[in-house]
Amino acid sequence: MNTKTVGIVIGSLRKDSFNKKVAHFLTTIAPKHLTFQTLEIGDLPLYNQDFDEEGSPESYIRLRKEIKALDAVLFVTPEYNRSVPGVLKNALDVASRPYGQNAWKGKPAAVVSVSIGNISGFGANHHLRQSLTFLDMPTLQQPEMYLGDIANSLDEQGNFNDAKTVELLTSFMNTFAEWINKF
Ligand SMILES: Cc1cc2nc3c(=O)[nH]c(=O)nc-3n(C[C@H](O)[C@H](O)[C@H](O)COP(=O)(O)O)c2cc1C
Repeated sequence: MNTKTVGIVIGSLRKDSFNKKVAHFLTTIAPKHLTFQTLEIGDLPLYNQDFDEEGSPESYIRLRKEIKALDAVLFVTPEYNRSVPGVLKNALDVASRPYGQNAWKGKPAAVVSVSIGNISGFGANHHLRQSLTFLDMPTLQQPEMYLGDIANSLDEQGNFNDAKTVELLTSFMNTFAEWINKF
């Protein structure tokens, strides 16, 4: 099977982030023809439309170029105040512009939300899906992936300790790989 490059966008900058650990775990159970590249989004200045006319920061140019070279994008995000963290929304906006040059366009995507709570980031997951629709990213519908109570689900090494969860996540990554192949 042809190798596919999947960009990972993580909605948390925290050094001990559960989302970062989950993202890494997903790369270890994914089909071997998928290779992963975590996209840096923490160095993007807040999007300002003036940049589109006056010149974009280097980090904007880098991110847009990186996304255009990808075969797919995996979003792994916490929920902040029942929505998408600002750092992630900013990255979506930055790479969607200048007008007519949306770097996300057409890239198959999947969404994983991760939370210490029991609602499992449902609000962030679905607000993100709303943006991905407008960005024209065909997004995997099923299985949906909401990971709650994450502080008690990962061991010291950042691995899931429940066999059923590992099975579910493996099935999710296999289905995402099949989804990517359709585009
Ligand atoms: C500003 C802020 C808002 C938050 N809002 C929510 C929320 O709406 N829903 C939720 O489940 N958790 C919320 N949390 C808790 C996060 O689930 C928790 O901080 C989680 O560890 C963040 O992911 P990370 O470990 O990858 O940084 C919030 C945390 C912060 C810092």
